[in-house]
Amino acid sequence: MENEHYTLNNGTKIPKIAFGTWLVPNNEAGAQTVTTALTVGYRHIDTAAVYGNEEAVGQGIRNSKLPREDLFITTKLWNADQGYQKTKIAFEKSLERLQLDYVDLYLIHSPADRTPSEREQDTESWQAMVDEYPTPDNPVDNWFENVASSWQAMTELYHEGKIKALGVSNFYPAHFERVFKNVSVQPMVNQIRLNPSQVLPETVKYDDAHQIITEAYSPFGQGRSFKVPLYQELAAKYHKTVSQILLRWSLDHQYLPLPKAGHEAHMRENLNVFDFDLTPEDISRLDSLNTKK
Ligand SMILES: NC(=O)c1ccc[n+]([C@@H]2O[C@H](COP(=O)([O-])OP(=O)(O)OC[C@H]3O[C@@H](n4cnc5c(N)ncnc54)[C@H](OP(=O)(O)O)[C@@H]3O)[C@@H](O)[C@H]2O)c1
Repeated sequence: MENEHYTLNNGTKIPKIAFGTWLVPNNEAGAQTVTTALTVGYRHIDTAAVYGNEEAVGQGIRNSKLPREDLFITTKLWNADQGYQKTKIAFEKSLERLQLDYVDLYLIHSPADRTPSEREQDTESWQAMVDEYPTPDNPVDNWFENVASSWQAMTELYHEGKIKALGVSNFYPAHFERVFKNVSVQPMVNQIRLNPSQVLPETVKYDDAHQIITEAYSPFGQGRSFKVPLYQELAAKYHKTVSQILLRWSLDHQYLPLPKAGHEAHMRENLNVFDFDLTPEDISRLDSLNTKK
């Protein structure tokens, strides 16, 4: 892959596409999915404690026989584990499950400031996962203290070399302004839901202005994007697939997409996006789909 890395604000190189693992099962089949992804060329794997599959991800990595230094592994601190001590314990448990000595990127999964009614809008698969690893009853009241003390713990782990880069997920400008004004290590990544139909323009602008790489999760709208007429039109025009158009849009904006695929053909297709560019006009047409101004 050409131009295959971005550089984070601490100098760490990060592969431009990650393999997403939400819903990859924590069993032999899940490990095989991760090994296959690595075999077809992914070097960046995105998991999370709450996905419940860190053991399978670790097994898949070991089965690939690839050298550790060639890989970039991200995992995330779940909401229920926020707080100084809890973060340290949760991080060590993630390392144990992955059977790694360090992770390349550790993210705070969410500011955990949503109200119960906002949480009710979660998809069924998200709810099922969260039911198994619940969030504290009312995180809205104390989200700032929880996040700030987690960041302190993560900063110490970073200085110990157990984490190579630090970041957050689902953070908006107001969260950044509140949490990171007076901290010694600034976030390097913000992972948000991001595809042409779902953009948070203010958040993306904030990330850019603060040298924070924006990672794009659900780049295919969790599989719902494939029937959008404009995507299909552009796929035909460029002789590419819808997934490749969506990933190219992400890369053309300097985002870091995290496609998930269970099928090997999909995995390969999603990496094969470095041989074309979208025209500025077509990027604008895609940008105009955004529904979340
Ligand atoms: N930080 C967060 O809060 C957060 C939230 C959600 C997701 N994420 C991360 O982002 C990753 C990706 O997001 P996602 O899992 O929500 O969904 P997604 O990547 O938008 O979509 C995955 C779906 O697209 C299908 N697909 C993939 N490549 C395809 C292709 N080339 N042609 C046709 N279909 C294709 C997959 O099918 P097959 O599996 O059948 O191949 C799967 O059904 C997650 O796995 C996770 O790592 C993070």
